[in-house]
Amino acid sequence: MTKLKVGLLFGGCSGEHEVSIVSASSIAKAFTIDANADKYNMLPFYIQKDGFWQGGDIAQQVLTSGKPISATGKSRWQFPATASEVDVWFPVLHGPNGEDGTVQGLLKLMQVPFVGSDVMASSVGMDKIAMKAAFAQAGLPQVKYLAVTRSQIYSNPCVFPKLCDQIESELGYPCFVKPANLGSSVGISKVRNRPQLEAALDSAASYDRRVIVEAAVVAREIECAVLGNDQPQASVPGEITFESDFYDYETKYTPGQAQMIIPAKVPEPIVALIQERALQAFLSLDAAGLARVDFFYVESTGEVLINEINTLPGFTSTSMYPEMWAATGISFANLVDRLIQLALERGQP
Ligand SMILES: Nc1ncnc2c1ncn2[C@@H]1O[C@H](COP(=O)(O)OP(=O)(O)OP(=O)(O)O)[C@@H](O)[C@H]1O
Ligand SMILES: [Mg+2]
Repeated sequence: MTKLKVGLLFGGCSGEHEVSIVSASSIAKAFTIDANADKYNMLPFYIQKDGFWQGGDIAQQVLTSGKPISATGKSRWQFPATASEVDVWFPVLHGPNGEDGTVQGLLKLMQVPFVGSDVMASSVGMDKIAMKAAFAQAGLPQVKYLAVTRSQIYSNPCVFPKLCDQIESELGYPCFVKPANLGSSVGISKVRNRPQLEAALDSAASYDRRVIVEAAVVAREIECAVLGNDQPQASVPGEITFESDFYDYETKYTPGQAQMIIPAKVPEPIVALIQERALQAFLSLDAAGLARVDFFYVESTGEVLINEINTLPGFTSTSMYPEMWAATGISFANLVDRLIQLALERGQP
């Protein structure tokens, strides 16, 4: 039987480069397991932090060692020769330049099927302002928010205070200030007074032209995994717990600082509501293949507010996405197989 050649694309020009390598190593192993080994031939492609593509031995070395490298390439825009052999791409790139539609556009131009969402769902899912507008249109409850631009933040000293007044009167304290297009909580601040708000807006604007400010909620953080194309399925939800003030960068990436509880211990009607809304969110963006949808469950009122969708969620052997599927009855290797099959199905004209 001829094996399908899967191009595993990882690394990338984002702050989540290292996580991408760990996710890709886990996925690479899944291609060597059981039936997958007879069906698929994995070809690794590593995108260095400077944008150079590496295939073959260098890419394999990064996968094996789990460490980034920076070798010299012939030409930045030249793909490794084996790229033309790929039957289906599996991009495992988190954050900007990977999860945001840029790589998806490139793969689309190559006219080869790929795992995950297309250009639109990827870019809308990445930009928190566009994402919230799409969710609002779909009728999904979410926190109150205001969209702000860098030019408003850097505007003259007469205008900026008015912007802060508006945030204070419409959202109040505490509130969260976030760059619209980042991930891993980079550039996010929780603020409690005017000086903190001013500093946080300034900081967020240094990361992105678009900034979002949200009213803070006191809530449990529940996530749900989605798998499929036009008739997606939702997994059992999982909960993230931590001691820190919020789920910030340090909490996310310091082992032992956050705990995953799968399945989440919430009442059955809340589970059903979360699953239903996760599917609605997925369909509202026309997402494909996979996504992790994150919610705030306000226990005191019973409200379930959508926080965000991640179209290429963390995919290490201990990440929430595969763990929630494992708890639902789909093993890691099986999940990888299903994602390839969904990509082939979606890739058909
Ligand atoms: N409106 C809010 N109310 C309460 N907590 C919030 C709010 N917004 C964000 N947080 C806290 O900050 C964390 C990070 O926020 P968010 O999920 O928007 O960022 P992110 O950088 O997109 O994360 P990811 O890596 O999941 O994409 C949340 O998990 C939560 O702990
Ligand atoms: Mg998040």
